[in-house]
Amino acid sequence: MVKQGLILLIASIPFLAHSIRNNNNETDNSIDVLADDEISSFKPGELWLDNNGEHINAHGGGILYDKGTYYWYGEKRGGRRSEGVNVYSSKDLYNWKAEGLALVPVQDTLSDISWGCIMERPKVLYNKETQKYVMWFHLELRGQGYDAARAAVATSDNATGPFKFINSFRPNGNMSRDMGLFLDDDGIAYHIYASDENYDLRIAKLSDDFLSPTKEDKLLFRNHREAPAIFKYNKKYYLITSGCTGWDANQAELHVADNLFGPWKSLGDPMRGENAKRTFNAQSTFVLPVAGRTDAFIFMADRWNPKDLKDSRYIWLPISLEQQSPLIEWKNNWSLDVFN
Ligand code: DGJ
Repeated sequence: MVKQGLILLIASIPFLAHSIRNNNNETDNSIDVLADDEISSFKPGELWLDNNGEHINAHGGGILYDKGTYYWYGEKRGGRRSEGVNVYSSKDLYNWKAEGLALVPVQDTLSDISWGCIMERPKVLYNKETQKYVMWFHLELRGQGYDAARAAVATSDNATGPFKFINSFRPNGNMSRDMGLFLDDDGIAYHIYASDENYDLRIAKLSDDFLSPTKEDKLLFRNHREAPAIFKYNKKYYLITSGCTGWDANQAELHVADNLFGPWKSLGDPMRGENAKRTFNAQSTFVLPVAGRTDAFIFMADRWNPKDLKDSRYIWLPISLEQQSPLIEWKNNWSLDVFN
């Protein structure tokens, strides 16, 4: 009787299971995706649906925590096309509400952000003094491929936008492609950017209003690295980067420093587990400090699908701080309980 029941149960699993294909074309039959549309864990590499049932379209993104809500800003992609910056909101980091476009390209062909431009890796900070939300992103001008290599700034009175484009430039005359922002505990903000055809990684302290770089702008290292993501733990700064291989994944590297302007020391590749040497087939974009918890950080990366960028998947993994240096280990399924 027990045996018969077991056979019946095993036979019914393929019908119960909701089959998900990740963009490595591996099929993962996970039963717990079934009925409930409330999400209660992270499943790196799988489709991640928003409140409208659509795969979240916020690539190369970053997150701002503001007054009890997380805001996820990222590239809106239509196939390969760059369609602006999307924003999503969440209270729990699992379930995201689509808040629409925070910044949209414009029809005016004379504008720096005219349709056909490329907006990548948007990051947003809130400036307490000016009470503005300030967005920085990597901008490429329409019809120029990746030659313009500019940083761009937009501001808004609300976290969800709409953001107003302010200007675009090469910081202190330097090329600027992949980028991140970092807000230190003292309220000073920094722009970290790939420069000189991505050979250099530089950091510039921002003006008090966060709208422009100051002259305090320094080379971190010249190792041909991009996709910078910084976090601060135990009074030290940690920087995760990728190599420069277009949309293809490569090996990540972790650097540590006592001071944001360096010197930065390499701690090697922090990734562990299957496909660790290719950053789990993904590329760093941001490290998120989890609000209300001490020493809880989430590594965020993009598993790019260059044939259909909007279908690119998200790899979010907890950063383990128990060892001598931070490690990021692959997990198929995890929840914030790992930080308890
Ligand atoms: C790698 C960068 O990290 C991405 O943001 C994007 O610019 C691609 N290169 C384009 O090939």
